[in-house]
Amino acid sequence: MKASARAGANIAFVKYWGQADPELNLPLNNSLSMTLDNAFTLTTVEFLPHLAADALTLNGEPAGAAATRRVTAQLDRLRALAAPQQEPGFRHDAAPNPDSNPVSWRARVESRNSFPTGAGIASSASGFAALTVAAAAGLGLDLTLAELSAMARLASGSACRSLHGGYVEWLAGTSHAGSYAVQIAPPEHWRLIDAVAVVSGEPKEVSSEAGHRLASTSPFLAARLATVDATLAACRAAILARDLVALGEAAEADALSLHAVALTSRPSVWYWNCGTQAVVEAVRAWRREGLPAYFTIDAGPNVHILTLPGHLPAVRARLAEIPAVKEVIVCGPGSGATLLSEHLF
Ligand code: PMV
Repeated sequence: MKASARAGANIAFVKYWGQADPELNLPLNNSLSMTLDNAFTLTTVEFLPHLAADALTLNGEPAGAAATRRVTAQLDRLRALAAPQQEPGFRHDAAPNPDSNPVSWRARVESRNSFPTGAGIASSASGFAALTVAAAAGLGLDLTLAELSAMARLASGSACRSLHGGYVEWLAGTSHAGSYAVQIAPPEHWRLIDAVAVVSGEPKEVSSEAGHRLASTSPFLAARLATVDATLAACRAAILARDLVALGEAAEADALSLHAVALTSRPSVWYWNCGTQAVVEAVRAWRREGLPAYFTIDAGPNVHILTLPGHLPAVRARLAEIPAVKEVIVCGPGSGATLLSEHLF
């Protein structure tokens, strides 16, 4: 009944922006990411009889109502999935016996992130991937990786990519079962660096959930969708060839296209601040001086700098000269979500 899991966050080079189905979190396009080694979530879930409600502790503190509701919604999806898998003779119309039916049990959940909140690293991806893997095991569900990925997607789209390690593509699909992530190369394939330049630790004003909903109000969305397949192909090929220049150019183009859609949505969504602009300008200048580094930016102001290990000391030294940069978190490619034998409680 008790299970624990670890899952890494991920950074998308070709991003998920806008939904074909907001209920099922079916995206408008495939997306492509790297799972991060140095930014992960550890989660323990224990289903218990006679617990009145799911109880969530986040980074050592009792979680607020909104976060707890989101966790309960995901646990409910998994509890519903577990119900038909009960032993033969289980009657769905029978009143649940609270002592013997774990499917109706509430859970104690404890979750810890290895990275600070507001660092520009999405904790929903690692958090919901870890929760899905731990809760499925706690309920005795026997799911394939594709099924676990699809289930994680229902809680947070980008979480479906964190089931896998290394370089990962989320196949958009047109149905619940058909929308899940696959690995395109393992972490050992290429030691790429994502140095996250933190320019704000504040929670973002517009959630990615709201941003996805507003995307369809932008006249630029059609242009983004018309080019995204070519960007995906370029990105896939660049990863397989370990080509930083090609990957960086594709990732920058994709991030700028996402932010063009966000900026031209109604109402307009601005994720950048002056610090974002300062880092982007710096990265472009470094490149002119021969330092290979590229930027990508998620639904927030912090800048992810893509480079190779040999250039990291120079990138760090130059970031230290930008007053807006408060902190730098360095990640490489990490492994996929795994069950752990040690628990948080
Ligand atoms: O998974 P969500 O709903 O938090 O959306 C993620 C959106 C981006 O981080 C901006 C892009 C992506 O693909 O990760």
